[in-house]
Formats: sequence, structure tokens, C-alpha cells
Amino acid sequence: MSAILEARALSRQYVVRRGMFAPYASVKALEGVSFTLEAGKTLAVVGESGSGKSTLARLVTMIETPSSGELIINGKDVAGADAETRDRLRREIQIVFQNPYGSLNPRQTIGAALEEPLLVNTNMSASDREAAARAMMARVGLRPEFYGRYPHMFSGGQRQRIAIARALMLNPKLLVLDEPVSALDVSIRAQVLNLLKDLQEEFQLAYLFISHDLSVVRHIADTIMVIYLGHAVEIGTRDAIFNNPQHPYTRALLAATPVADPGHKKERIILSGELPSPFEPPTGCPFHPRCAAMLARCKNEKPALETKAGRSVACWAAS
Ligand SMILES: Nc1ncnc2c1ncn2[C@@H]1O[C@H](COP(=O)(O)OP(=O)(O)OP(=O)(O)O)[C@@H](O)[C@H]1O
Ligand SMILES: [Mg+2]
Repeated sequence: MSAILEARALSRQYVVRRGMFAPYASVKALEGVSFTLEAGKTLAVVGESGSGKSTLARLVTMIETPSSGELIINGKDVAGADAETRDRLRREIQIVFQNPYGSLNPRQTIGAALEEPLLVNTNMSASDREAAARAMMARVGLRPEFYGRYPHMFSGGQRQRIAIARALMLNPKLLVLDEPVSALDVSIRAQVLNLLKDLQEEFQLAYLFISHDLSVVRHIADTIMVIYLGHAVEIGTRDAIFNNPQHPYTRALLAATPVADPGHKKERIILSGELPSPFEPPTGCPFHPRCAAMLARCKNEKPALETKAGRSVACWAAS
């Protein structure tokens, strides 16, 4: 197996002003995050709003550069790559956003939207581009007569299929999916998730699948990384995370997740308090102000990820 994506101590800060006369302050949106994603597999990134998920998506898709740390895509260190290599890597990684209304040009037909990446990046003829667009439409479950129609004529689920089809036109190896089903009706979600599973198998795609909701990634993730205030707090296989979570934050997220089996008894852990302000992050473990298992050292000493019970967990209290 080979890694399509490797992050080593990836960090990103933003310098912002909180008001016209306020001094500049820095937000650590992502702090020292490391992981490996194998070709053809799915890494799910789960955390609350503001935890740094979209920041990670922007770094991986090279929309933004890391403040520090390394990003290795398909064996190439992005920072050290020449312009030609970076262009090639950009084609190999595509992104699908939460809101398919915003990501499609309202004045472009579906056919034109799908053909545009080919027009810009290849020298395929017009008829070959059309054939490729039509083949992809069929593959994602869009009817042939949709080819000449405009985005406003479609439902959210259909638009997300269009966005996925467009992302696949250049044969990428990795799709970054930033909350791809969060804006969709619950009844449509499973359909789009199943489509993503089928496409993954057919095209050997790797997914970096971002969600604030653990239940969404249950059937699609191979590995899950839980992030909190920009820190990876637990990384493990899907089964390790769902069956035997070690970090108190992972446990709290799971307790908030509905279970299909009504006979299943689970601990109720209520996540108390708000996510702290990223301008004044807690000292020590970033989760300690909300943690039920807090120890004295958690206030001052930041735990590093360590391998425990078959996964990596950053917690002083985890056994
Ligand atoms: N361009 C920016 N300038 C300043 N701060 C930013 C910028 N982008 C993100 N941030 C801050 O970085 C932190 C992480 O934001 P990010 O958008 O990555 O979170 P997220 O996990 O995607 O949240 P959500 O679930 O709401 O999409 C937040 O505190 C956010 O306010
Ligand atoms: Mg986001």
C-alpha cells in the first residue's frame, strides 16, 4: 500500500483583528496535525465547528500554504515541488464543498460545468469532452437530458452529484469532501454516501472526508481522526473509534450520536460548555475545561498523541 497523502506536524495560523481598533491577534486554526492516508482509502476528520476541518481541507488542496509542517502528496513534498509538479498535484486532488449551490456557476449548463476542467487542462476535442461529460453523468446517476440544463433546476442532492462529477473529470486520486452531505435532507444523504462508496471502488479514490457528525462517517471511514481546537486528539480505525473510544472528547461526540440499535446501552456523556475562544486557547490539554476525566496535570501539560489500545490518543487520563 502506498500513501497518497501524508501530513507531518501541519500547522496553520491566521492573523486577524477582532475589531477596527483592536490589536492583531493570531488564531491557531491547526496545530501540529500528522496523519497518513493510503491510496483508495477514507480518512474521516471529525470535530465541532471551528475545530480546523476546513483549514485542513484548504491546506491539502493547496488553496493555502501551511504556516509550518510538511505536506507530502503522492510522495512529493509540496513545499519543495516545482511549479509543474504543483500543477499536476492540484489536478490529482479535487474538492467537493458542503454547499453545492455556491460551488456551481448558475450561468453554466451542467454539460459546460463538467467539460470546463477538460477544456482548461487537456487538449481533448469538443466531441470527446462531451462524451466524457455524458459518461460521467451516467456514472453519478444524472439523466442524459440534464446535460443542457442549469443548476437552479436541480435539487440539493442532484447538485451534489453534479459537483462530485465535476470533481472527477480529471481523474483525481484524492477527493477532499468538506461536509459533502451536511446540507442535504436525511433521506438523500444515504444515496450520496452510497454513490461516494461506489465511485471510490470504481476509481480507486482516496477520500479525506470531513464531518462534524460521527454518524455520517460510520459506514464510509477506514480511519477516523478526531480534532479539537486544531489538535488531533485521537486517530484510529473506524472500529477502534466506534467500539472503544479512548479520548473523553471522542466519547462525548459518540454519546451525542444517535444509534440505530435501540437496545444498545451507552454511557451518556454530555459535552458541557462551549468551544473555547480560539484567540485564548486553554493551557495544557485543549480539552481540559470541558473534560469530565480531568487530572491536575491536564491544566498545564499538553498531552502528545501516543499509541494506546491500538490507536493514537492525546490524553493523560486514557489508559
Ligand atoms: N481566513 C481566516 N481568517 C481568520 N481566521 C480563520 C480563517 N479561516 C478560519 N479561521 C479560524 O480558524 C478556526 C478554524 O476554522 P475552520 O473553518 O477550519 O473550522 P471548521 O472545523 O471547518 O468549522 P465548521 O464546522 O464551522 O466549518 C476558527 O477559529 C476560524 O475562525
Ligand atoms: Mg468548515
